[in-house]
Amino acid sequence: MKAALLKRLFSAVQSGASRDVMSVCKHIVEDERRLGHTSLAEDLQRSIDAAEKKLGNLKKDVSSSHLVSLPSSKRDSAPLVQVLEHEKLRHHMVLSQEVEQRFIRIGKEYAARARLATYGLRARKRILFYGPPGCGKSLGAERLAWSVGLPLYKVRFDTLISSFFGETALNLWRVFDAVQQKPCALFLDECDTIARSRGENNDVGEVSRVVNMLLQLLEDYHADGLVIAATNNYEALDKAIYRRFDEALEMPKPGTHEIARMLKRTLLSLDVEKEVSLDLFSESLDGLSYCEVERIAQNAAKCCVMSNRTIISLSDLQVASQEVKRHS
Ligand SMILES: Nc1ncnc2c1ncn2[C@@H]1O[C@H](COP(=O)(O)OP(=O)(O)O)[C@@H](O)[C@H]1O
Ligand SMILES: [Mg+2]
Repeated sequence: MKAALLKRLFSAVQSGASRDVMSVCKHIVEDERRLGHTSLAEDLQRSIDAAEKKLGNLKKDVSSSHLVSLPSSKRDSAPLVQVLEHEKLRHHMVLSQEVEQRFIRIGKEYAARARLATYGLRARKRILFYGPPGCGKSLGAERLAWSVGLPLYKVRFDTLISSFFGETALNLWRVFDAVQQKPCALFLDECDTIARSRGENNDVGEVSRVVNMLLQLLEDYHADGLVIAATNNYEALDKAIYRRFDEALEMPKPGTHEIARMLKRTLLSLDVEKEVSLDLFSESLDGLSYCEVERIAQNAAKCCVMSNRTIISLSDLQVASQEVKRHS
C-alpha cells in the first residue's frame, strides 16, 4: 500500500472523521483491484458496504427522533429542556378525592379536546400547581403527563437563564417554539424563578422582559399538549401570569386519611405489629408533607430491616417520626 494512502488513513482515524476514513478505504479498495487482488478487494468492499448501511440507518434514527427538534440555547447550544419519556414517568400518588377529581377532569378534557373545539371550547391545557414543598407538585406533573400519554419536557432553568441581556426571554421563546412540533407536556418547575413579580427586583428591565415573554407565550399556546408550571411561592408570582392558566390547582398537605394511606403504601413490603394502628399514628403526623411522611415510613422500615426484624414496631415509627420532625 502506498505510503501516502497509509498516512491519510491514519490521520483520518486520528481526527475521528468517519467520512474521511471511508473515502480512504475506498481508495485502498480501488488500488487493490488495480493490482489484481480481486478477492481481497471484494472482501474489503463488503466491509465498506456494511459500514455505509449502518451509517444510513443511524442517520435515519437520529432525524426521526425528537433529539433533532430539542430546543437549545443559541450561544452555546446547551439543551434547554430535559426529556422524561412517557414510559419512565412516575404516576403513583396518594391524593385527596378533591385533587384526584381535578386530575381526572384535566385528563378527560384533554382526551375530548377535539370535540370541545367543535363547540369553540378549549380543554384545560395550562395548569399551575401551587402549594407547600414536598406535596407532589413535581410528581403531579409527571402523573398528569403520564395520564394523557405524553412525554414530559422539563425546562432547565440552569441553561435557560442567561446573564446576557435579552437571552433568557429568547431561550424561553425557543422552548415554546420547539414544543409546538411534537405533542408533549412542557413543565416549568419552580416557575417563580422566572415569573416573579415585575418591579420588585433590582434587575427590573430583564425581569419584566422575561415575564412579558412568558405572558405572551402562555397566551399564544395552542399546541397539542400541556403546559404545566409549579411553584411553592404562589404569592411571589406575577398576578398576570396566574391569570394565564386555565387551572390553578392547589396541592395541599395531606390530611390524616392521606397520611395513613401514604404510610400503608410505603410499608407494604413489611408487616406492622398488630397492636399498632396506623390510622391513629397518622394523627400524630398532621401538618407534615407527603414527602416527610414517606421518609418516616421508609426510615422506620429501614430501621426494622437493619435490626433483622420483619415486623415494624410502634417504636420504629416513633423514632423515625421524631427524627424527621426535628428537621422539619
Ligand atoms: N401526593 C403524593 N403521593 C405520593 N408521594 C408523594 C406525594 N407528594 C410527594 N410525594 C413524595 O415526595 C417526593 C417529593 O415530592 P415533590 O413532588 O417533589 O414535591 P413538590 O414538588 O411539591 O415540592 C416525591 O418524589 C414523592 O416521593
Ligand atoms: Mg417540586
